[in-house]
Amino acid sequence: MKRVLVLYYSQSGQLTNMVDSVTKPLKESSAVTVDYRQIKPVKAYPYPWPFYPFFDAFPEAIYMNGCEVEEFDDLADDYDLIILGYTVWFLSPSIPVTGFMQSEQAKKIFKDKPVVTLIACRDMWVMAQEKMKKLISDLGATLIDNVVLTDQGGSIYAFATTPRWLLTGKKDAFWFFPPAGVADEEIQNSSRFGERILVALKSDEEKKKEPLLKNMGAVTVNGKLVGTEKIATRSFMIWGKLIQKAGEPGSFARKIVITVYALFLATLVLTIVPLNILVRRLIYPWRKEAIEKSVKYYEQPSGR
Ligand SMILES: Cc1cc2nc3c(=O)[nH]c(=O)nc-3n(C[C@H](O)[C@H](O)[C@H](O)COP(=O)(O)O)c2cc1C
Repeated sequence: MKRVLVLYYSQSGQLTNMVDSVTKPLKESSAVTVDYRQIKPVKAYPYPWPFYPFFDAFPEAIYMNGCEVEEFDDLADDYDLIILGYTVWFLSPSIPVTGFMQSEQAKKIFKDKPVVTLIACRDMWVMAQEKMKKLISDLGATLIDNVVLTDQGGSIYAFATTPRWLLTGKKDAFWFFPPAGVADEEIQNSSRFGERILVALKSDEEKKKEPLLKNMGAVTVNGKLVGTEKIATRSFMIWGKLIQKAGEPGSFARKIVITVYALFLATLVLTIVPLNILVRRLIYPWRKEAIEKSVKYYEQPSGR
């Protein structure tokens, strides 16, 4: 009998739905025992997010400060595979998941284990996964696969639909915008990854610590967004430091800097970001080879 630990943190339940869909074949199999554990921050984060707490989370997310999380007191001694579902907050793994990965308990359970990451986010996850790769390897574990689902309708629409959803809880279509979040059909179809993992577990393939989900469409990197993510990360580091220097989370001084930052970000999203996307489209033919190389890298370990 194989034993799989499924860890995740989801606010609206979208990532929970993805985790449930991927792991359904394992749960239904008599060959596998699945332990589901939702990561719980000691101090809960709000959902939907009020404006200031949303941006207040930004410096701690980008600097990977983590947060205190509750310890699980009922885990098995050993697992054959760990499936870790996380969302992306400001180009980084969400603060509760970072907090868990930095905990003493994570050191014990991840050591020498093969790990599959599951991500459901807007559409900028590449830098977060680089950070996650380091968290996993720092724990002595091996990332063998990554499955990513992104919000429907493409980047430009998601710049409006995702913040509306996160700040108001409204996910429905409006005006000419599609509904926010990942399409239900994509979530349902992700059970095919669980079917493959089940076959692998039955034949001890996970022991090789090599990818199981290659050539199944588990990840698609948008090469034109990688450059935007890199630039945004640099800008986030500068603003994150400024906000942290202004004061403690929730302080008045921090709110002032956050207000300036939010205005800066809105201007950026309305001007520089579309311009950047346009310029990148125009210069694509000259940068094609370099972009394709970076896409191949970021799609590892579960590419195409
Ligand atoms: C504070 C915050 C920051 C976010 N930043 C990003 C981001 O940088 N890139 C991205 O693709 N999605 C981002 N998202 C969207 C989430 O990754 C995710 O899609 C959304 O929060 C729904 O997840 P849930 O299952 O926890 O409800 C952010 C969400 C929150 C709450």
